[in-house]
Amino acid sequence: MEKLYGMRKGGRLMACLMAVLAMLFVDLPEAHAEYGDVVINNYSDGAGMRPVIFPHWFHRVRFRCKVCHADIGFKFQAGGNEINMVKIIDGQYCGACHNGEIAWSVENCNLCHSAKPGTKTQVHESTIQKLARPATTPANK
Ligand code: HEC
Ligand code: HEC
Ligand code: HEC
Repeated sequence: MEKLYGMRKGGRLMACLMAVLAMLFVDLPEAHAEYGDVVINNYSDGAGMRPVIFPHWFHRVRFRCKVCHADIGFKFQAGGNEINMVKIIDGQYCGACHNGEIAWSVENCNLCHSAKPGTKTQVHESTIQKLARPATTPANK
């Protein structure tokens, strides 16, 4: 990105490039799976809660990988961490930040438990909105 911004070709080319990039992200989600939302549903459905949507990109632009994947200790695998509410309230995993100080706290159940019931653990290309809305296409497999 910095290289692109450094080019002296003016705004039009820039706008074009950005449009192409935007299309790539929309049309080729698999190639950029690590940018997608992670649905975590090891326990939620079983406990009668909606599965959790973790908006990875939203967090990645705010924190370095290391903060979560080294310091907090999230394994690099969708559903690969045995997360539950006792741990979160104890300040582990999501609770390292969602404690009312760094970010809003655990009372906001629905902000995390926002996927359609039955959505399996996965890295999903779509936005929170798409996952949270009733499906219009059979895209949520
Ligand atoms: C705010 C915390 C946070 C930050 C920052 C973060 N991640 Fe993650 N990452 C997670 C969580 C949570 C998961 C899902 C773990 C789970 O499902 O148990 C995850 C999953 C992943 C996965 C496995 C799923 C996938 O997308 O393939 C990869 C790879 C990954 N992260 C890479 C990165 C990289 C690279 C960065 C930095 C550019 C980064 N993460 C920054 C929290 C974070
Ligand atoms: C900051 C995000 C976040 C918030 C807020 C949150 N949860 Fe969770 N919760 C999770 C994650 C992540 C899991 C693990 C999901 C899984 O594997 O199914 C989880 C799992 C659960 C589970 C199943 C495991 C267990 O601990 O029994 C229940 C039940 C649950 N949450 C209830 C709640 C309720 C009720 C609230 C509101 C008082 C809440 N959660 C708020 C992230 C959150
Ligand atoms: C390193 C700190 C950190 C960790 C760990 C973390 N979050 Fe967050 N999260 C934030 C911050 C900061 C915000 C923005 C809060 C705000 O806007 O007030 C946020 C916002 C969110 C949002 C709202 C996104 C939006 O579009 O507004 C969701 C959903 C969320 N987090 C879920 C989770 C879940 C689920 C986990 C654990 C799997 C988690 N977070 C772990 C820091 C963190």
